[in-house]
Amino acid sequence: VADAPALGPRHHEVKQLRALLRDPAARRTAGALVLEGPRLVADALRRGAPLSAVYLGPHAESAFAGLVADARGAGVRIAGLKEGVLEKVGTTRTPQPVLAVAPAPAEPTLAAVAAAAGPVVVAVDVADPGNLGTLLRSAEAAGAAGVVCCGGVDVHNPKTVRASAGAVLAVPVVTVADPVAGLEALRGAGRRTFGTVAAGGVPYTEAPLDAPVALVLGSEAHGVPDAVAARLDGTITIPMAGATESLNVAVAASILIFEAARRRLL
Ligand SMILES: C[S@@+](CC[C@H](N)C(=O)[O-])C[C@H]1O[C@@H](n2cnc3c(N)ncnc32)[C@H](O)[C@@H]1O
Repeated sequence: VADAPALGPRHHEVKQLRALLRDPAARRTAGALVLEGPRLVADALRRGAPLSAVYLGPHAESAFAGLVADARGAGVRIAGLKEGVLEKVGTTRTPQPVLAVAPAPAEPTLAAVAAAAGPVVVAVDVADPGNLGTLLRSAEAAGAAGVVCCGGVDVHNPKTVRASAGAVLAVPVVTVADPVAGLEALRGAGRRTFGTVAAGGVPYTEAPLDAPVALVLGSEAHGVPDAVAARLDGTITIPMAGATESLNVAVAASILIFEAARRRLL
């Protein structure tokens, strides 16, 4: 199979893999993230993303022969894992038979994201990894300029990586500690800044989404913080029927950035 004997649970690489899946600080220190599952690994290879290593469970080599051949063809190091190791390492309910470690993509500057085409999505305190991953997936598909993450879940959390379907490897993502300062910088670079709110904003069909904008999405629990809302150029709402209080944050972001894309295509 692999280029060396299968690794046991106490091997340093296995310990590192476990840490990278569980600990944001370990990911930051190593500048790496983990792709959990054959689909994600295949997608990363399709994208031509550099992978540091692919790890295979005991029966994965025959079950995923094509994927393993692709990884080999891309010059990626392949390591086998002994029976029972995946169960200890993985974070999914059913252990995934194939894992890969990838270097975290280089973070662009806020100025570079501000200067790119399409809307900038500013995610403030988005806490659910699935929501952040879904938002990244839509941002890539809708041709957003990039995503600015202020607080909230780590963008390289394994669940975020999975929900992004690999988009985390491609979408320009900037991490900014202070959303107010980040938005000031985006405004300084010529973008109008809009908060998105479940009620009371300008209907999104009338908002200038095809102009250079930064769209601020708030957290699942608290929405856009007051301190941020006070500094924005305006607010935008997707009108809703029925008694629905609000949309899921990734759904709201997707509707807005695809509306922006639709107008660019008109
Ligand atoms: C689940 S909602 C937040 C609900 C929160 N309880 C509140 O008080 O705002 C998460 C985010 O999705 C966006 N959002 C949700 N529904 C929206 C709508 N109808 N129009 C525009 N943005 C919306 C907003 O950015 C909001 O902060």
